[in-house]
Amino acid sequence: MAEEINYNHLIRPFGPPIGLYDIPGELCVQINSLVDSDSSELTPNGENLAGQIEGEFRISSAACKRMGLGDYLLKTVSKYIEQSIEKKITSFTLIDVWVNRQFANEYNPTHWHSGHISGAGWLKVPSDMVAAGKKRKDRDGCITYTHGSRQFLSHSTYIFEPTAGVMSVFPHYLMHHVYPFVADGERRSLAFNAKIDEDIFDWYGS
Ligand SMILES: [Fe+2]
Repeated sequence: MAEEINYNHLIRPFGPPIGLYDIPGELCVQINSLVDSDSSELTPNGENLAGQIEGEFRISSAACKRMGLGDYLLKTVSKYIEQSIEKKITSFTLIDVWVNRQFANEYNPTHWHSGHISGAGWLKVPSDMVAAGKKRKDRDGCITYTHGSRQFLSHSTYIFEPTAGVMSVFPHYLMHHVYPFVADGERRSLAFNAKIDEDIFDWYGS
């Protein structure tokens, strides 16, 4: 006689996964120190990015290596792919790593990235950024990820309140935007684009 199976859980068969991972405190300190310096390892990158943000800087690959940022991103993307599809990557190429220094009234309109896997993390966030919002208290300075259209029982957006020391990882095509804020202080984010094994990216398995 077949064993009775009880169902009492949710499944998430549709939509791209978003991974949330800690950024080690020491690494945050190192990146923030670099950004606060006038190092030649930082290059203005605003022309290449969607953000209505003045302070956008590319971090050189030498600096990524020196700080251990490249290794951290490799480990983080490996974990993300394993958790998503139970596969191990054997290839990892960082295309670009950059920092956005966002201040009051700046914003990042809906956009997507290039490469295979991308990420957005946070290095510092004004303590009253969200609370200072004039009306809604879940918008100012928050990132919203968008996929598909809103339908019954299926949201198309996911709003996340940034916290310093957290990195989000997602497929490059996942649209996202960042609301402006009115609070004083800097919202500093770290972003990257990377390529992994072509046969994992270009995968049509079930
Ligand atoms: Fe982005």
